[in-house]
Amino acid sequence: MPLLRDIAREILGDSYASIIWKRIEIIGDIAVIRKPFGIDIDILRRLGIEMLNRLKYVKSVWLAVTPVEGDYRTREYIHLAGEYRSETVYREHGCSFLLDITKVYISPVLSYDHMRIAKLVIEGEKILNMFAGFGGYSIVVSRYAKPSYTLSIDINPYAVKYMRINIELNRVEAINDVIEGDALTIADGLRCCFDRILMPLPELVYRAIDKSIDLVKNNGFIHPHIFINANNRREAFEKASKTLLEYIERYRVIGRVMGGHVIRSIAPRKYHVTIDIQIIKN
Ligand SMILES: C[S@@+](CC[C@H](N)C(=O)[O-])C[C@H]1O[C@@H](n2cnc3c(N)ncnc32)[C@H](O)[C@@H]1O
Repeated sequence: MPLLRDIAREILGDSYASIIWKRIEIIGDIAVIRKPFGIDIDILRRLGIEMLNRLKYVKSVWLAVTPVEGDYRTREYIHLAGEYRSETVYREHGCSFLLDITKVYISPVLSYDHMRIAKLVIEGEKILNMFAGFGGYSIVVSRYAKPSYTLSIDINPYAVKYMRINIELNRVEAINDVIEGDALTIADGLRCCFDRILMPLPELVYRAIDKSIDLVKNNGFIHPHIFINANNRREAFEKASKTLLEYIERYRVIGRVMGGHVIRSIAPRKYHVTIDIQIIKN
């Protein structure tokens, strides 16, 4: 999006533009700016107005003033410019997702991993998505692979509302079930076994693994997400694999790293990583 970069440069000058540029995300027809330190809101508002004038696909601009936080992993926002509307249709891999950026977790950075997982799924698999949000993984997987069944859980009622709408919108209701609630509690009432268990919430990684070991089939896969301190991406992947395998050793199963992906760097020398682990039960 060179135009967006040009607009930022014109309004903010070269040095600020290079900071802001990486902090803008387009979600449907909404532009989100993650607030940087040291830039006045009025200047960001001018940037927002200019984006509206020059980028026809942007209808509303919001400033995210907090990091992702709380159980629902959402942010606080200030409206900067355009329509006072935080609901939009976000598109990814040919799927459409209705969502409200202020009410559910949304990060286009997961888009690659949604499809990466879809490509791993073998026809007929039964999948559990413990932290499903607005349905990104479950719906992309349902559209592009041929699982026989996908069960998605989320504790945020808004995420569940949008996920149910999105399952219909993308016509994958025949193979998708949704439960609202705490996945860690709900897992206790689920019957074995799933071929694949997704756990896209690094904050609960160990508690989610604890639940997944009983629920995953022999030779099935778990996909934990984890935050890891490392000097670079390669080291992050290796440390994440080692840390997770060591954790899994406490169960009487063998874990085998089959792949994974460094999703992003979240701070200097800190990474968000997901590892694909096959679980072999004796
Ligand atoms: C990082 S987001 C998930 C991203 C989503 N899977 C996607 O593809 O965009 C984590 C989700 O976990 C949910 N969550 C947090 N704690 C939970 C819990 N104990 N049980 C179920 N869901 C939970 C949050 O509401 C949030 O929607």
